[in-house]
Amino acid sequence: MVNELSSADQPPAGDLATTGPAPGVAPGRPPRVLAVANQKGGVGKTTTAINLGTALAAIGEQVLIIDLDPQGNASTGLGIDRRSRRYSTYDILIGEAGLRDAVVETAVPRLRLVPSTMDLSGLELEIGQARDRAFRLRNALAPLNTPAPQAVSFSYVLVDCPPSLNLLTVNAMAAAHAILVPLQCEFFALEGLSQLLKTVDQVREQLNPGLTIHGIVLTMYDARNNLSGQVVADVREFMGSKVYDTIIPRNVRVSEAPSYGKPVLVYDLKCSGSEAYLRLAAEIIQREQELCAG
Ligand SMILES: Nc1ncnc2c1ncn2[C@@H]1O[C@H](COP(=O)(O)OP(=O)(O)O)[C@@H](O)[C@H]1O
Ligand SMILES: [Mg+2]
Repeated sequence: MVNELSSADQPPAGDLATTGPAPGVAPGRPPRVLAVANQKGGVGKTTTAINLGTALAAIGEQVLIIDLDPQGNASTGLGIDRRSRRYSTYDILIGEAGLRDAVVETAVPRLRLVPSTMDLSGLELEIGQARDRAFRLRNALAPLNTPAPQAVSFSYVLVDCPPSLNLLTVNAMAAAHAILVPLQCEFFALEGLSQLLKTVDQVREQLNPGLTIHGIVLTMYDARNNLSGQVVADVREFMGSKVYDTIIPRNVRVSEAPSYGKPVLVYDLKCSGSEAYLRLAAEIIQREQELCAG
């Protein structure tokens, strides 16, 4: 359970998540912050953060990925080697570096990253008693709300969460406008989803009243496997229109790309995985526009 959600937490001033910028995201507006979360490991969070980020950047958005997993898979998958990780998410969360100091360029134009290192796994012990422990990420992102000369104005921030409902994930949920949930098309897909939704409800009540579920993205769909089709039907029945139309297929090119330190869109733009992530990016922008209009 998430004991980080206890009483004394107060939203900080200059609240990133509730000063909601318009989606569609015009220049100079604060970025939209989406947390890619699911406490299950291996469901496609990191793959989605990297490739959705790349697809959004490819269609003109300025994107920042925050690697919030001590494993650092998003950092490695984007080709950021350990020596280039001068400052990391850990440094910004303990207040030893400013966010902009920790941002590194990637090989993809308009896509940047705050890398992580194993240090992040000790964070909970270090800040677990601090009053603002659940708001460290939100506070760290706050400078992005104010356009600064010479600095990039990000339109999207994607937070790649660890496979746990720990303090790091709570920080992501407290900092986000919305959650994006990858669900793997496998037998136990729905298992754990209700606990995730419960945590989102708790965060909404106690830390971040504006938090919504942006959508659920089905990943690793295998058309040759009847079970995949059944899982899609079940998840759509349970979650209705929250499920994106786009389904990410299981595609070997997607799994090969990280070992070359490249997003799959760079590794093989024409493969089915790349095409799916481009469609997902278009759908997300569309949904943002609807959220804004509604
Ligand atoms: N669409 C896909 N097709 C094939 N392999 C995939 C796909 N999406 C993810 N994978 C692979 O599945 C594994 C887990 O994905 P990952 O994104 O790291 O999950 P998580 O971040 O949720 O732990 C990785 O080896 C990744 O390369
Ligand atoms: Mg991951």
